[in-house]
Amino acid sequence: MKNARLTVEKGLSLAVTDDRLFGSFIEHLGRAVYNGIYEPGHPTADENGFRKDVISLVRELGIPIVRYPGGNYVSNFFWEDAVGPTDRRKPRRDLAWRTIESNRFGISEFVKWCDRIDAEVMMAVNLGTRGISDALNLLEYCNMDGGTYYSDLRISHGDPSPYGIRTWCLGNEMDGPWQVGHMPAYEYGRLAAETAKAMKYMDDSIELVLCGSSGVDMPTFPEWERISLMEAYEHVDYISLHQYYGNEAEDTEDFLAKTLDLEQFIHTVICTCDYIQAVKRSSKKLYLSFDEWNVWYHTRKSDDEKMASAPWEEHPHLLEDHYFFEDALLVGLMLITFLKHADRIKIACLAQLVNVIAPIMTEDNGPAWRQTIFYPFLHVSRYGRGEALLCPLTSDRHDTSCHSDVSDVDATAVYNEEKKEVAIFAVNRNIKDPVLFSADLARFNKLKIKEHIVMESKDLRAVNSATKERVCPHMTSEHSFDEDIFEATLQPCSWNVIVFEEE
Ligand code: AHR
Repeated sequence: MKNARLTVEKGLSLAVTDDRLFGSFIEHLGRAVYNGIYEPGHPTADENGFRKDVISLVRELGIPIVRYPGGNYVSNFFWEDAVGPTDRRKPRRDLAWRTIESNRFGISEFVKWCDRIDAEVMMAVNLGTRGISDALNLLEYCNMDGGTYYSDLRISHGDPSPYGIRTWCLGNEMDGPWQVGHMPAYEYGRLAAETAKAMKYMDDSIELVLCGSSGVDMPTFPEWERISLMEAYEHVDYISLHQYYGNEAEDTEDFLAKTLDLEQFIHTVICTCDYIQAVKRSSKKLYLSFDEWNVWYHTRKSDDEKMASAPWEEHPHLLEDHYFFEDALLVGLMLITFLKHADRIKIACLAQLVNVIAPIMTEDNGPAWRQTIFYPFLHVSRYGRGEALLCPLTSDRHDTSCHSDVSDVDATAVYNEEKKEVAIFAVNRNIKDPVLFSADLARFNKLKIKEHIVMESKDLRAVNSATKERVCPHMTSEHSFDEDIFEATLQPCSWNVIVFEEE
């Protein structure tokens, strides 16, 4: 049988995970907001029109931060349209998704919703069609106590306390030709630097995210990073990474190897940041905000057709990917990769949260339900907080159509000192062979297994729906644990979580 071995040693800490690694994203796109998180008249709606069934699923995921309001949407977002009395709000054409935005749900509603789920807001400013002064006005509206025009405006809108938004994105995917207001790297770097500088003059407690490339395949990557960082390095705290994967080729073996590309992407961005740090003789280290990531491909073609043939609808069904079982495996592999870089990746947002390429789906006026990808995210959010450990891994390997020397198993572990728990996350991405997996746990106090969770499916294309959950995890006791050596057979294409408790 094939083998993989993980060494898990207490004290061999890479970094303490930032809670914001388990963030997500809500864009004014499709049914993410309307009939997603907000549906007045729904049987579970509260006094604000927030769906309580959705709130409870979001709370289950333990999301600590939610990016808002876009995405591509933000690049022509007029924030003033999205505040104040709802009956006076103006509808707008959203050019990014070719829909009508009613603005019935806006900033104050989102802040309140985040409060209900115990999450922070990660706000993006429009650097596509607007600039420094509008970013400043929005910051004043959100974060200043009162006594000035926009802070008093917020108070007059019924929100006396500032929202205290800590994390801000300087535009979105400004390297993408599809972006309204797209610009070259130098121009963006200058604009972002000056916006960041002024925003920090207004509120020096905030942290700012510079837009990196919108994906590793962009022809401008990584020159975009180098050029924009040369301008903005000293004014920002993070650079963003976005990456979506798909199995368009219907080649699961290769699809599950795509985190090798992700590794390379992260490595290149870290190197570029550190190169700029060296050029600038700076003592400051830049961190990574992986603020859009997921699988996204199932609906791309049909959505393009729909936006072309039936534009300007209000909250149409867009980007409603129904995730296969194999997509959940890739989501798990991506999370493992982020944990292995927890020293540099401080923020990550699963894109998105509800209905739009999302772990949570809703039926209009009907139930909310969990997609396949819900589960690996849930497990890593629940057990992946603490010290991300440096865990040497040896594994048998295989080649795929586009990747060579792919480890059969990818795995890592996190130790939570407060809970006295250590969790191992492991994927067997070999599509044919089981792997005998052993983990050697050293230097912990006496451990016992608390949970061993497995998610597997014979049908790699199995999906969940509102009426049937075909893919969900189960507990197993098919393992041995003697003398600090854990052993179990990981089935081909399986997601595995083993949680140990210290005495
Ligand atoms: O998340 C969907 C879209 O993907 C976002 O609006 C954009 O930033 C990215 O291209």
